[in-house]
Amino acid sequence: MSKKIQIAVVGSGYVGLVAAVCFAEMGHDVICVDNDEVKVKALQGGDTLIHEDHLPELLNRYRNERVRFMTDLAEATRESEAIFIAVGTPQSESGDADLSHVEAVASEIARSINGYKVIVEKSTVPVYTNEWIRRVIERNGVGREMFDVVSNPEFLREGTAVSDFLHPDRIVVGADSERAAAVLSAIYAPLTTGEYYNVENIIPGPFTSTEPPPLLLTSTKSAEIIKHASNAFLALKISFINAVSNLCEAADANVEQVARGMGLDSRIGPKFLRPGIGYGGSCFPKDVAAFRSVAEQMGVDFSLLSEVEKINGAQKKRFMSKVQSALWTLRGKKLAVLGLAFKGETDDIRESPAIDLVEMLLAEGCAITAYDPAAMERAKAELPVSAQMGYASDAYAAAADADALLILTDWREFAELDLVRLNATLRYPIVIDGRNLYDPHMMSEHGFTYMSVGRPAAKPVREAVGA
Ligand code: UGA
Repeated sequence: MSKKIQIAVVGSGYVGLVAAVCFAEMGHDVICVDNDEVKVKALQGGDTLIHEDHLPELLNRYRNERVRFMTDLAEATRESEAIFIAVGTPQSESGDADLSHVEAVASEIARSINGYKVIVEKSTVPVYTNEWIRRVIERNGVGREMFDVVSNPEFLREGTAVSDFLHPDRIVVGADSERAAAVLSAIYAPLTTGEYYNVENIIPGPFTSTEPPPLLLTSTKSAEIIKHASNAFLALKISFINAVSNLCEAADANVEQVARGMGLDSRIGPKFLRPGIGYGGSCFPKDVAAFRSVAEQMGVDFSLLSEVEKINGAQKKRFMSKVQSALWTLRGKKLAVLGLAFKGETDDIRESPAIDLVEMLLAEGCAITAYDPAAMERAKAELPVSAQMGYASDAYAAAADADALLILTDWREFAELDLVRLNATLRYPIVIDGRNLYDPHMMSEHGFTYMSVGRPAAKPVREAVGA
């Protein structure tokens, strides 16, 4: 049996909340601290505040028992052996990560240390952060023997966060002391020994008790770089396929075929080769900028990352040109927009390319009716209801009498529309798909003019036959 450990998690955002309930699911006792009282009350009452599979179920199972929510970081510090810092590291003006929340939490922890503690960076932070946290704690008069700071980056994706946490490709622990490494190894033992995968009613995922996930022990600095380098590499993969998709459009080739042909090479792999309207979300844009900035500060030329960002920004403009080429003039056009979240199966609109595109279309004088299965409430704060901007209760209501339909987020349900009904609902059967959810042949057979990313445009069969 793995040992039960008393853990504190500071921050109840995506990473903090998911980590807190998953540690409880692994058998540990957890205190989740947030300085926002309203949030703490909501979590105590069972409201997850974010749209995430399995989260309501785990929160209800453990709240106020194995996971306690509170605002008192001092108490949580005193009661815990390991304290995970999972607060926000937003992007500052210069592209750097703003570490003021991390620093504030570190100082507060320092003031309450009452015995040996392992302080764990869970937030995505630049390579020198570990050392800074250590210095801040020492400055507050805490002796070196009273604590260790380790880096344990998180690789969960929104939408699949809980199963990513409990079935991780790898667990990275960056620790410069054996004592701290032992505490982290004990925390993850239910996963790394395979014990968790033997329990009934576990969260499903790829790992089993005979094939558990690996734990990689590294230096703290390597662990910090692993996180930034992984996100930057995935962003690079997306920008690469987006650039290839532009080449495919110019050459009249099909990027889906090209991506498949590349992805079958096991050295490349098929994942993160979906072209689209550019990556968004709270991680990739921020982390690519932060990694670029870290490299700059350390005198390393990593201008490759600037290219990744450049291609990403250009991808939205390219989509705008596609809309323009399909509709000629944009002023006064009535457009249906499917999707506002930065990707499917989440209600998160942070750095969403869909929101940016809607803003660009509104600036061109289009009238927009949007539908998103989960992100509309959040979107209304960015794109308030107006004469130009409206929201619909489903995809068909959004499409009613529209001059064209735009697909901006890869929600599964958007790939399963009733095409006959959609065609009858739109004023003109034009679909411009920024996520390649449909087969161009099928769209042309259903009478649509269909434009997507990196594939030849399709014309309605009727028109093609008559032409
Ligand atoms: C990302 C990473 O995938 C996680 O491993 C990491 O833990 C997380 O950031 C983080 O640092 O916290 P996430 O932001 O939830 O996770 O979303 P992804 O699924 O990675 O998608 C990011 C963006 O790339 C989305 O806008 C998505 O639509 C886009 N994307 C993704 C593509 O355009 N093409 C692809 O092939 C894949």
